[in-house]
Amino acid sequence: MNSNLLQVRDIHTYYGDSHILQGVSLEVAKGEIVVLLGRHGVGKTTTLLSIMGIHPPLKGSIRFNKEEIAGLPSWDIARRGIGLVPENRRLFPELTVEENLEVGSKASQRGYNLETAYADFPELFDLRQRQAGQLSGGQQQMLTIARTLMGNPQMLLMDEPTEGLAPLIVKRIVEIVKRLASRGYTLLITDQNITFALELAHRVYILDTGMMKWSGTMAKLRSNREILEKYLAVSL
Ligand SMILES: Nc1ncnc2c1ncn2[C@@H]1O[C@H](COP(=O)(O)OP(=O)(O)OP(=O)(O)O)[C@@H](O)[C@H]1O
Ligand SMILES: [Mg+2]
Repeated sequence: MNSNLLQVRDIHTYYGDSHILQGVSLEVAKGEIVVLLGRHGVGKTTTLLSIMGIHPPLKGSIRFNKEEIAGLPSWDIARRGIGLVPENRRLFPELTVEENLEVGSKASQRGYNLETAYADFPELFDLRQRQAGQLSGGQQQMLTIARTLMGNPQMLLMDEPTEGLAPLIVKRIVEIVKRLASRGYTLLITDQNITFALELAHRVYILDTGMMKWSGTMAKLRSNREILEKYLAVSL
């Protein structure tokens, strides 16, 4: 029996004539935290945008909850339960924190609402009347995560959620992600920073120039110096 919630099979994604994803496959089981690692420009964001239907693949299959979603419009993919926490955060800078949350909201039985958002992110409650554009990078990242949760997803795609943030905020984001996982959310997170993966990942994938080069547990990766040096340029 296949318990995968998300199954990406051999997808090919292009920007114009540039063949960016050249047969990417990955799987994420229900409740799993999977981290997609890889250097700058290898196709991590493109993989998430392909899954989300924002930049769909021209070839290959993406199944979510056993249904084919490749080629569906992104609103339909969101409706089926996938939420994207984008790299560039895409908040409405002129709107307040609370208005940004309301924009992300979607009525559903799972019922994530303003109250639950503020319980998860008490720092946002204190800032609720502040314009999003005036928040710090860390506060904006938390608002972006909270806004995505307001859409009541079952699975979150997070694009480098700790990029450019101070160590204390990184810790807070790691804590939030752990809490979400313990609540049953399924997570696929891209990251260049291996320490984030070390803290959280059940499994990792390594992408290099649009191809999947390695997958396994973090424990296995830790002891594989060759792979670490070749694809990630880090030493542990
Ligand atoms: N809109 C675009 N038009 C053309 N090429 C693009 C576009 N977006 C990305 N690319 C190219 O596609 C490749 C993969 O980019 P992508 O953003 O997916 O990489 P990434 O792994 O997320 O990188 P980073 O670590 O910098 O976020 C890169 O070579 C990039 O230059
Ligand atoms: Mg990226």
